[in-house]
Amino acid sequence: MSQINKIAVIGAGNMGSGIAQKIAQEGLNVVMIDLKDEYVERGLGIIRQMLQEGVERKIFKPGQVDDILSRITGTSDFEAAADADLVIEAVFEDKQVKADLFKKLDQICSKKTILATNTSSFYVKEFAEQTARPDRFIGLHYFFHPAKNRLLEVIPHQATSRDTLDKSLLAAKLHGKTAIVVKDAPGFAVNRFFVPFLNEAARMLEEGLADIPTIEAAAKQAFKIGMGPFELMNVTGIPIAVHASTTLGNEIGPFYATAGILKAQMEKNELWDLAGEADEAKIAAVVERFYGVCLGVAAALVDEGVASIEDTDRGAKIGLRWIMGPFEIMNKIGVDRTHAAVEAITRKYDDFKMPQVLARQHELGRPFEFKFVDLEVKDNIGYITLNRPEAMNALNPKVVAQLDQCFSEAEKNEAVEAIVFQGAGKAFVAGADIRYFVQKIKADKISDIYDFTSKGHELLLKIENSAKMTMALLDGLSLGGGSELALACQAIIATPAGSMGFPETGIGIFPGLGGMLRTARMVGPELAKYYVFTGSTMTAQDAHELGIVTKLVMPADIDSAVQELMAGDKPDKYRQRKIPDRLKPLARVCSADNVARLLAGDPPQGVPEELAARVSKVIGFKAPVALKLSNDIIDQQDGKSMEEAVAIELGLLHDIFSTADALEGLSNIGRRVEFKGA
Ligand SMILES: NC(=O)c1ccc[n+]([C@@H]2O[C@H](COP(=O)([O-])OP(=O)(O)OC[C@H]3O[C@@H](n4cnc5c(N)ncnc54)[C@H](O)[C@@H]3O)[C@@H](O)[C@H]2O)c1
Repeated sequence: MSQINKIAVIGAGNMGSGIAQKIAQEGLNVVMIDLKDEYVERGLGIIRQMLQEGVERKIFKPGQVDDILSRITGTSDFEAAADADLVIEAVFEDKQVKADLFKKLDQICSKKTILATNTSSFYVKEFAEQTARPDRFIGLHYFFHPAKNRLLEVIPHQATSRDTLDKSLLAAKLHGKTAIVVKDAPGFAVNRFFVPFLNEAARMLEEGLADIPTIEAAAKQAFKIGMGPFELMNVTGIPIAVHASTTLGNEIGPFYATAGILKAQMEKNELWDLAGEADEAKIAAVVERFYGVCLGVAAALVDEGVASIEDTDRGAKIGLRWIMGPFEIMNKIGVDRTHAAVEAITRKYDDFKMPQVLARQHELGRPFEFKFVDLEVKDNIGYITLNRPEAMNALNPKVVAQLDQCFSEAEKNEAVEAIVFQGAGKAFVAGADIRYFVQKIKADKISDIYDFTSKGHELLLKIENSAKMTMALLDGLSLGGGSELALACQAIIATPAGSMGFPETGIGIFPGLGGMLRTARMVGPELAKYYVFTGSTMTAQDAHELGIVTKLVMPADIDSAVQELMAGDKPDKYRQRKIPDRLKPLARVCSADNVARLLAGDPPQGVPEELAARVSKVIGFKAPVALKLSNDIIDQQDGKSMEEAVAIELGLLHDIFSTADALEGLSNIGRRVEFKGA
């Protein structure tokens, strides 16, 4: 895979400037091009202002702002895009303007350049056809504000090559976007159900079913959102809603066509009047109508293969900031009720038919099942992707069961020579689902946590002992269970963005999936205790120097690193190794003598003063029982077989999860907790 070194953004307006800002924020160079220098300057001004607001809100330090700005070049010279790897177009939503621009870019840009459009309402293929490189053409649909909203719809059209899609997904990852792959269809995935949500609100008003305050209240209740459709239109612009629904109506049919009252409001050039009290008696009917339309459309787009049910939910949650996606809502209110609400819509609008996916689920009489783990076999490699980016790919019983299923499938597949585990979105895996632990403790079902952990151990041992080479692709943050999954693999390929960490003792528990065991076996018990006691981040660089990370590479070199590892012998994970001098003081912090001191609340000795002070302070915030049990486990596991060592860890699981500190720590993630030591 070739590198994405240079990105150009065409158009320095609201979207273009935001896209350029985000790319630069994530450490990449970007050139932003507009027709005139003054437009470029205006775009740069928007970026400066946004970053300044970021400084005021303490998101950035002033120095960081200078760094970000230094990565953005603004120009009106289109030749600056000539050698870009990726060009993202964000100019006026005008078919001719975009078509002309792509003809010009096709002439200017080198053969390798991928051209992308951020169009909201046209087909991607229409612009691809203007160029001699339809295979290197794709849609990248951002959401406002592109520096803040993580969602990116990646839209290959029919002729987009696999390589172009892969490179676009890499580019998305490199600038911190959560990508969902969507078919080249009207409204793509998110606007397909979001625009009817706005439009139907207007129709209900038009019909006199309810007034604006009632419709606003019903929408907030139905979707657990902060702003109803009328307020949203007031903020984002009524013309945008009219334009989007007109396009959908023209492309798909009258069900999607703009409500007359909505068009009239645009023509009046007035905002909606939100004042007044909701009429409680009318809310229920409005809620059902919203469900019928939005959930029905979400199911229809899945029927048409526009997006998967999981990506449709992701689109709603990440792109629109809904608490639940449409399919999660269907499960919550029940498939029967959803079916009835959608059926009412099919009766009301002739051209809206009951989606198959909903009819089938209704017949089955059970909720939708979500896929959180995907297996894809490519070039003799089984790629297992933890695909739950909205929860940073956190592990829970469902995810672990699916992981197990995908792994077994990959192992059985004779064409698969190596199995690579990776995380969707920015993180690898951010530990286990804390909410699950809290629920189980409160329900007095710690035995379920035991079963979940025990199954997890079995899977990790299978991964570690597989006859096929198993690799973790650590190109983002990992914590707890995520780091433990990576450690169980036979090799780890990391990029500089990768990291590991064991925050467990800070939330009242200990790493329960062999993280202590495997770290100790690789780099010795002292260093393992240091990372577990302090929860300090182990950067990819540190892990590489410690021989935990097998290969440290730049994102573009991941594929060749995988190939190289496959071609060689399996790495000897537990070989003897030298601890680099730089990291020796960390090991000394947790020598046997110092551990006794630390557990008694005293600072370690024989290490630099600053380190001793920092460690004592950090350990002071950890749960005492968790620290003590971690220490005991690491000591007891020494010299035992893997299976015996796992049994030791599992044997103490009930003890730790039944402490008051565990419940307190797990219930207060992100807040400082006063642990009681019990
Ligand atoms: N605003 C949103 O919420 C949103 C969301 C997703 C996608 N989009 C899409 O993004 C695109 C841009 O929208 P926007 O809101 O940033 O518009 P905008 O009007 O703020 O900015 C458009 C910019 O493009 C420049 N431009 C026009 N023709 C050009 C050309 N031939 N070459 C170079 N620059 C040119 C203009 O000078 C202007 O600075 C549209 O296609 C829109 O549909 C918008």
